[in-house]
Formats: sequence, C-alpha cells, structure tokens
Amino acid sequence: MRLVAEAFAKVNLSLVVLGRRTDGFHELDTVFQAVGLADRLSFEESDGLALSVDDPSIPAGAENLVLRAARALAEEAGVKARAAITLEKRIPAGGGLGGGSSDAAVTLLALSALWEIDVSLERLARIGAALGSDVPFFLHGGTAHGLGRGERIEPLPDLPPRGVVLVMPPFPVATPDVFRQLGAPVRDTAATEVPRDGAVPDRNDLEPAAEALFPALRGIREALGAAGATQARLSGSGSTVFGLFPDLSGAAEAARRLEGLPTGAVVRVVPTLTREECRVRSGPRRAE
Ligand code: C5P
Repeated sequence: MRLVAEAFAKVNLSLVVLGRRTDGFHELDTVFQAVGLADRLSFEESDGLALSVDDPSIPAGAENLVLRAARALAEEAGVKARAAITLEKRIPAGGGLGGGSSDAAVTLLALSALWEIDVSLERLARIGAALGSDVPFFLHGGTAHGLGRGERIEPLPDLPPRGVVLVMPPFPVATPDVFRQLGAPVRDTAATEVPRDGAVPDRNDLEPAAEALFPALRGIREALGAAGATQARLSGSGSTVFGLFPDLSGAAEAARRLEGLPTGAVVRVVPTLTREECRVRSGPRRAE
C-alpha cells in the first residue's frame, strides 16, 4: 500500500513574545494561519525505514524531522519503523513557514494509517510537540492560537478566505539566532495584554530582531505595504515576509508589482486554508 498526503505551510498572523523560560524556550502567544503552499509526501510499506528528498539542500539523514517523527511514533506504539518515504519540498527550509514541522505532522498521521495503529490526536500532538513547537498546529490546521512554546493549540474560528503573497528570500534564517538577537523579552510573562476576544494583533515581536540581522527583510515588508497589503509581516522568525489581501486577485495584482524588486526572492500567491481544507489535504489517501 502507498499513501500520499500534502504538508501545508503556515504564517503567523501575530506573534507576541511574553517572556523567556528556564528551559531556554520563549513563552509565546501566536496566531497560526494555514496557507496553500505544500510539500508532498508518500509512504509505502517497506522492510526498513528510508527517506528520499528531491531537494539536495535538505538533509535526508536521521536528523530529518520526517524520520524523527517516524521513529518517535514507532516507539510510542511499540511497532517497528518500516516505511519508504518520499518528500517533495515546495516549502523552503529556514523560511518561517513551518515546512519541517508540517512534514513531521503529516508523517505522524500517515504512518498511523499505514501501520494501522490507533493513536489519538492528543497523543500525536504530544509526540509532535517533542519534535518541534509548531508540529501540533499542523495536526490541527486552519486558524489557531498557539500558547506556551507555541505547541499548546486553542482552535480559532476560520478566517474569511484571504489572498496571501509570500515573499521568500533566497537565504534561510535560523530561528535560535533571531531569539538570541531578541535579547530580553519586550515584556513580562503576564499574558493580560493579549486580546482573547478573537481580535488578532498586527504584530510580530521577532520582526525587529530578524530585520536587524537581515536588513533586506524590512524593504520587502515595506514593499508589500506599499502594494496594498492589509497586513505585511515577517512569518515566525523569517525569512518569509507575507502580505494579506482581501482576495486572491488582489494578491496576484500586488505580486506583479513586486516582481521588479531586486531581492532574488521567490514570490508566490496562495489562499488561506480552513481547518476542513487542511484536514482533507493532509489526511493520507491511497495512491492508485
Ligand atoms: O521548537 P523548535 O524546534 O521549532 O524551536 C527551534 C528553536 O527556536 C529553539 O531551539 C529555540 O532556540 C527557539 N524557540 C524559542 N521559543 C519558542 C520556540 C522556539 O526560543 N517558543
């Protein structure tokens, strides 16, 4: 049997850093939004565990989150990790779009099906959280609040569909470098300032730190604003900068205006995805 699934990307509509924790992570309050750019994975029964990746810049060894997810699931379920996995990368690594975490989440879902093991979503989220702070979001999809390290997910209602312009610079950003540059958090751990009424603050506390390390990011953000984005922000720790537009045609029009930018960045126009769209696309299907 061969199963296929899509691993979609996310942007952070807002990202508030509440404080530094004793475990070296930061306490966050973030709003994740799934978007229609996706890696493709396939999973086939096999004697051992192997991963092949079409992008030579992505490590395909034991440190790859797909293989780490497969091993962690096998251990949790007490089965042998047996699968031949292929990964077609469309989400750039180091882009702040959660590609590796999304691949890991899809791997947990697909291998649970391939190995016919009954693991609840809560258990998968626990395994996922140990692999990366963003993994539980990708088991959820749509729009969601991320608390704690970002791994504690609270559902939010789906946003009305929007067009999104993703501007993906030709350089990756290492998340720990940006948190280090951030230094002392902007505020204390008291979460009271963050609205709980569904209003999403237009803010990413990692943006000034990332822009200090990579000054080109600021020019991209300003260009997206000038092209009419209702919101133009860094996604996560970057390097992707995204612009929100009321619809896809507005986003496409803005993307044409950005083509002249001398950044070497790849510009993509994608829709936001609802929770149901994510469930359908990342749930594994049998390949013919
Ligand atoms: O959890 P994840 O592997 O995505 O985190 C990558 C790095 O980003 C961590 O090692 C840490 O340096 C930083 N990070 C953080 N606080 C978070 C999430 C990530 O400091 N909430």
